[in-house]
Amino acid sequence: MKTKITELFGIEHPIIQGGMHYVGFAELAAAVSNAGGLGTITGLTQGTPEKLANEIARCQEMTDKPFAVNLTFLPSLTPPDYPGLVQVIIDAGVPIVETAGRNPAEYLPALKEAGIKVIHKCTSVRHSLKAQSIGCDAVSVDGFECGGHPGEDDIPNFILLPRAADELEIPFVASGGMADARSLVAAMALGAEGMNMGTRFIATQDAPVHQNVKDAIVNASELDTRLIMRSLTNTERVLNNDAVERLMEKEKALGDKLRFEDIVDEVAGVYPKIMHEGTMEVGAWSCGMVAGLVSDIPTVKDLIDSIMTEADSIINQRLSNF
Ligand SMILES: Cc1cc2nc3c(=O)[nH]c(=O)nc-3n(C[C@H](O)[C@H](O)[C@H](O)COP(=O)(O)O)c2cc1C
Repeated sequence: MKTKITELFGIEHPIIQGGMHYVGFAELAAAVSNAGGLGTITGLTQGTPEKLANEIARCQEMTDKPFAVNLTFLPSLTPPDYPGLVQVIIDAGVPIVETAGRNPAEYLPALKEAGIKVIHKCTSVRHSLKAQSIGCDAVSVDGFECGGHPGEDDIPNFILLPRAADELEIPFVASGGMADARSLVAAMALGAEGMNMGTRFIATQDAPVHQNVKDAIVNASELDTRLIMRSLTNTERVLNNDAVERLMEKEKALGDKLRFEDIVDEVAGVYPKIMHEGTMEVGAWSCGMVAGLVSDIPTVKDLIDSIMTEADSIINQRLSNF
């Protein structure tokens, strides 16, 4: 399938794996890229520029196809070494960067000068237009359904995607709630040039996370995610568990007086324990409503192949028969 996104990134299928903290390691990124999609290494998870350089080198050994690095800009008391991470990405010849979190304008000139394509992930039409105006090549439009940070507007993709299509000139992919061929065809009908998936890619054999994480997604329904940290204007969609219940009790009790320090036990430093050790109840971890559509743990290749085959039959049989 040829779309503006496959052409822009030099990939076979219009399917992107979004950056995911403690999930987006070389194994998953390479598996997605080898299957014809665009895999993504999560920059901040690696910790330092040196470790990111190693991870990129590992991925380059596993695939000769294009892959991306995600750079998430978070508010932080001790910010990561963003200039160092950007330099490593440039030096390693990574062709695509997925930015997220806040406006990436500061780093765009360096990335563009190196010929790197930038796809910015954002949750509103106004932020998408901003990304376009500062020179991003594409956007990943993340609807309210998404796992991770859906922003504060709460606009689901059935509204957000056609609104983006009405306003944007650069191509965009649909992100949030995407799981299968139906998602892809629907996203394209709403104006997207492809789709970005997070949660669905965690429940694959290639994702380098503990089996408990994959099983938790398979066992979850679309009713099992919760929104946390709204009063901190840092809303995150996570899978419900004991820690999330505890956290929400504190949110209820403290209301607008809640500070990050009040919930630090439930959110800080929990990802390695969950993703690597499989201690699922230790804290809050991002997960999309789309978990309700995930009922198996295929290889990435089987997942992407089946999406493309079924998309073809939806377009050429089901829809063309109407
Ligand atoms: C466990 C997990 C961790 C994530 N970590 C990040 C991250 O570090 N940076 C980022 O830009 N997006 C992150 N995301 C968001 C995904 O890249 C993607 O936009 C989102 O999962 C799409 O929604 P979906 O889960 O419904 O497919 C994360 C998502 C999940 C599920």
